[in-house]
Amino acid sequence: MNKHDSTATDPTLQKARLILDKDYVISRIDDRLYGSFIEQLGRAVYGGIYDPGNPRSDKNGFRRDVIDMVKKLNVPLVRYPGGNFLSGFNWEDAIGPKENRPKRLDLAWFTTETNEFGMHEFFDWTREAGTSMMYAVNLGTRGLDEARNVVEYANHPGGTYWSDLRRKNGAEQPFGIKLWCLGNEMDGPWQIGQKTAYEYGRAANESAKVMKWVDPTIEVVACGSSAYDMPTFGSWEMEMLDLCYENVDYVSLHRYYQNKENDLPNFLAKSVDMDAFIKTVVSICDAIGGKKHSKKKLNLSFDEWNVWYHSNERDAELKSGSRWGRSLPLLEDVYNFEDALLIGGLLITLMRNADRVKIACLAQLVNVIAPIMTSVNGCWAQTIYWPYLHASTYGRGISLQPVIKSPEYSSTDFDDVPLVDASAVLADDESLTIFALNRSIKNPVELSLDLRSFGKVRLMEHIILHHDDIKAVNTETAPDTVVPSSKKVNTAETEKSVIELPALSWNVLRFSQK
Ligand code: AHR
Repeated sequence: MNKHDSTATDPTLQKARLILDKDYVISRIDDRLYGSFIEQLGRAVYGGIYDPGNPRSDKNGFRRDVIDMVKKLNVPLVRYPGGNFLSGFNWEDAIGPKENRPKRLDLAWFTTETNEFGMHEFFDWTREAGTSMMYAVNLGTRGLDEARNVVEYANHPGGTYWSDLRRKNGAEQPFGIKLWCLGNEMDGPWQIGQKTAYEYGRAANESAKVMKWVDPTIEVVACGSSAYDMPTFGSWEMEMLDLCYENVDYVSLHRYYQNKENDLPNFLAKSVDMDAFIKTVVSICDAIGGKKHSKKKLNLSFDEWNVWYHSNERDAELKSGSRWGRSLPLLEDVYNFEDALLIGGLLITLMRNADRVKIACLAQLVNVIAPIMTSVNGCWAQTIYWPYLHASTYGRGISLQPVIKSPEYSSTDFDDVPLVDASAVLADDESLTIFALNRSIKNPVELSLDLRSFGKVRLMEHIILHHDDIKAVNTETAPDTVVPSSKKVNTAETEKSVIELPALSWNVLRFSQK
């Protein structure tokens, strides 16, 4: 491919080609790829999804305006209650009559947790928001005894201490939680109760085993290393998976991206890093499976991913000034247009790895590094809301492998980065959606589509997310600064389409085969 400088100022049209065939199947996308995450942290719960007394809240204290926005995203599952918070959390503190629930110091975020919102409240909220709960058990300060108890509390029908306590607390029917995380980021020195790979592997194995004895229908996620660039990455996965491989169903990956250097070509290339991270973890899983002569294939749960760095300095100040406060505005990144572009690129990467990544959680959902922000007066969509909405809406079905021939560029950390990146999803109603990112800073790209076995298709809609100012943001007073535009095209049926992707744009191309 011809080499290109993504920052080139000559606005000439570049050309790229995308070849797609119905037989180039990667995998059916697991709907859980479009999951999210809510941690008991900052204003995610208190002042986010739960705001008793606010005129926008219902009798349960749930913000109805937030629920409406979450419903639009069609979030299949939400990981809860942490995150780092999890590793010091006693799940029993947050059940039963609210007036009896203890207030505790949260040593993860140096705040005070009142426990007025817990498992029952979150379960009720998931029902209202049309989603489901991915629940995490604390393997930091606690262990397999609490882990087996909470499964019994949540999922056992009745007739035992914990299940009857749930019924007494108002939930006659079990919550039926199917997916459970075994701790959080246990190799991180910041974690309450950090563990070695050996300590964690043993704890995860025994917890998974007894949790499944309580309810054999559940699936569990083992903690991978907390980031690709952790010194423990790789050896952590190998050692701990060697100890728990047969009892766990998924291994987790976490990754947050930054543009501290203000290096746009390099920032937009960071989905290349996510792809390498996924492929490396897949290799490790398969190596351990091979070593064990196992028939089992371990899949991946990318249960924290996002951009996160805008709020870091302010958070440090906040934490030192308001230690032990409650409902503090922590991790409230204000996302700009370039962040939305990278989020699009990361979603493309997740779709193209759908054969092994079965679960992914955009971290997080409301106020805390989130697509949805609230104030007492309402809520609004950050820039990153839009690619997430598009992927969750149109990215369900079969992920097809596109062959992309695009000009490429090199950035500070990456070589051979394609200007155009894309994924393609064939939905059950036979409609086809191509998601395409144009990383070129100045050049529109003319994308020729060769759709081969599809025969004639009709381009129905071209959704574009673009803003001339790469740093543009959405705020409470200007919530529609960065919003997608939609061209209803309804072209004649054609076997070949040529579509122009504006410079720096996220594109959703929706085709009908009828
Ligand atoms: O999502 C914010 C934090 O990032 C989570 O609590 C933790 O798991 C990760 O380090």
